[in-house]
Amino acid sequence: MTATQPRHFLTLLDLSPAELNWVIQRAIELKAIRNAGQIYEPFRNRVLGMIFSKSSTRTRVSFEAGMAQLGGHAIFLSPRDTQLGRGEPIDDSAKVISSMVDIVMIRTDKHTSVEDFAASSSVPVINALTDDYHPCQLLADIQTFVEHRGSIQGKTVAWVGDGNNMCHSFINAARQFDFQLRIACPQGFDPIPELVAANSDRVSITRQPQVAVSGAHLVVTDTWASMGQEAEKQVREKAFTGYQVNEAMLDLAADEVVFMHCLPAYRGMEISENLFADPRSVVFDEAENRLHAQKALMEFLLLQPEVAT
Ligand code: CP
Ligand code: NVA
Repeated sequence: MTATQPRHFLTLLDLSPAELNWVIQRAIELKAIRNAGQIYEPFRNRVLGMIFSKSSTRTRVSFEAGMAQLGGHAIFLSPRDTQLGRGEPIDDSAKVISSMVDIVMIRTDKHTSVEDFAASSSVPVINALTDDYHPCQLLADIQTFVEHRGSIQGKTVAWVGDGNNMCHSFINAARQFDFQLRIACPQGFDPIPELVAANSDRVSITRQPQVAVSGAHLVVTDTWASMGQEAEKQVREKAFTGYQVNEAMLDLAADEVVFMHCLPAYRGMEISENLFADPRSVVFDEAENRLHAQKALMEFLLLQPEVAT
């Protein structure tokens, strides 16, 4: 049990802009430490509980490997073989699990489930993707932009595709990291209107991907059918005609543009067949940075460093 109220990371708004920038800089340092082969184990005897009710490659591997590299241990918990899957209430589960581990990450469908878990948890809770937000991915994305192009403040980002969990986290990122976000999505696939309205000074919506991408410093897309939307795949493929990010679309962006995708990607759908081979694509650096960014996030939440404002 922690003596003080734990800090959680359910959306990017849970950390201040200064704290988020601390995490990004620390992620870059932790990457250098690992690349230099240095052992750094501040989490000896600390345990991360990882609750996954949706599939994952990057998130699971990065959290589990990251905890091991920092000297700690991670436990993978799936509803298929825990009592959560048999209907044990979230608040009971949160009280029990958080009494035994030091930090928890959760990937699930309803965002309210991670909020409910956090409300009853005595240790920090990290949102590792819900239907509404994917804030850990944004830490890696901003780290990747900073490494390739420097500060993202004042830059223009184009989101081309579904107004989904990733898009919502980009809206929060526009606010916290202070950049302009142009969202190109078909009618009927808009992000949450209240979120857009609350950030109208930084966020705009268009139905023309070319307009969004024009002059942009970062172009981002994601699958047209997120986890849980498999049955809508065909309808969505039709609705998103013209929204594929390809080499010709990137040619409309700024000369120094970089392209990102959180992965997994579907070639021939939201991206052209060879886009990842284009020198403007940084998707595999972006994927690797999940490891470094989440190590920095866990340091922030567990070790509570002083962050200058
Ligand atoms: N980008 C991402 O979260 O990937 P996984 O679904 O593989 O974890
Ligand atoms: N929007 C995607 C992201 C996968 C990492 C999904 O929710 O399935």
